[in-house]
Amino acid sequence: MNSTEDLFAQLVALETEGVRAFRQASTAELAEAARIEYLGAKNGRLNVAKDALKSLPAESKREYGQRFNLVKSALESAWAEARDGFKAATVDPDSDGIDVTRPGAPILVGHKHPLTQTTEELVGIFGKLGFSVARGPEIEDVWHNFDALNIPQTHPARDPSDNFFTSKSTLLRSQTSTVQIRVMEKQAPPIRVIAIGKVYRPDETDETHSPMFHQIEGLVVDRNITMADLKSTLRLFARTFLGEDVKIRFRPSFFPFTEPSVEVDMIWHGGQNWVEMGGAGMVDPDVFRAVGYNPEEVSGFAFGLGVERLCMRRFGIRDIRQFYQNDLRFLSQF
Ligand code: FA5
Repeated sequence: MNSTEDLFAQLVALETEGVRAFRQASTAELAEAARIEYLGAKNGRLNVAKDALKSLPAESKREYGQRFNLVKSALESAWAEARDGFKAATVDPDSDGIDVTRPGAPILVGHKHPLTQTTEELVGIFGKLGFSVARGPEIEDVWHNFDALNIPQTHPARDPSDNFFTSKSTLLRSQTSTVQIRVMEKQAPPIRVIAIGKVYRPDETDETHSPMFHQIEGLVVDRNITMADLKSTLRLFARTFLGEDVKIRFRPSFFPFTEPSVEVDMIWHGGQNWVEMGGAGMVDPDVFRAVGYNPEEVSGFAFGLGVERLCMRRFGIRDIRQFYQNDLRFLSQF
């Protein structure tokens, strides 16, 4: 049983809480919910407080009744105020007015895909190093994808099962190195370009392989370009893109279009494992001959890095497939 004192205290709390509920109701629905809670005909808290009168000793009944009436009128006027406020904010269906008081619907602002962000960042970094952007078609001919790149007729890279051929002599390009050839065919040295774009290979899809992915290709041709220029360019790039603590390693490798050739690995932020980022090397003299350059006069370096791999390392993304699933829970994190 509540003591007399408790019942008076509850009356005070009822007024404070009720008035606050009506004032804080930010929608007509919330105001209505407060009305039901405090002024509801059946179990409204005001009615419960009224019933409490019966259990009071006779000498307290009069004072309780007076205070009850004050609380009742405070709650009723708070309710009326809330209700009228929302009524004023609703449009009269007969008028042609616009409800200027209605809260605006939130606008979902889109943003750039992480691969687009990475591409733009790469263009920016290499732009500062003096590289301009070159483009080439995604459907290539055999000359640009293989022949001019010094890839022998019998090389496994030409195997139809390792490429997406669109006809006997055209295919979806399997590497951005095709753009090197297109640039050199059109332009005389000196050259300093990057090419970024989609490439296609029928690789089995897994966490790090996709049949369509992006590469960034770099090509520098001038007099007296050496391996030291290649190393310092990639080191500078790696430090800008991944941070000052990045380490870069070049492992001897083989590509038909570069000699010598290297695989480029990077490690950073105290990581445990070297991560392969792509291939690079000094442009093979046969490639220069294919485009009409004199290898006795010019030298150059080229590199090709996987954009998804760079982006994954950068943001700690574990599965390459997430880039292409259009899942907003993933995309909205970038
Ligand atoms: C090449 O494609 C050479 N054209 C790179 C090159 C350019 C060498 C210029 C010398 C001079 P490679 O096949 O290793 O090399 O591919 C380069 C990078 O592309 C790989 O290191 C990897 O980061 C990425 N890559 C390759 N296959 C896939 C794939 N299926 N999915 C995602 N990324 C891939």
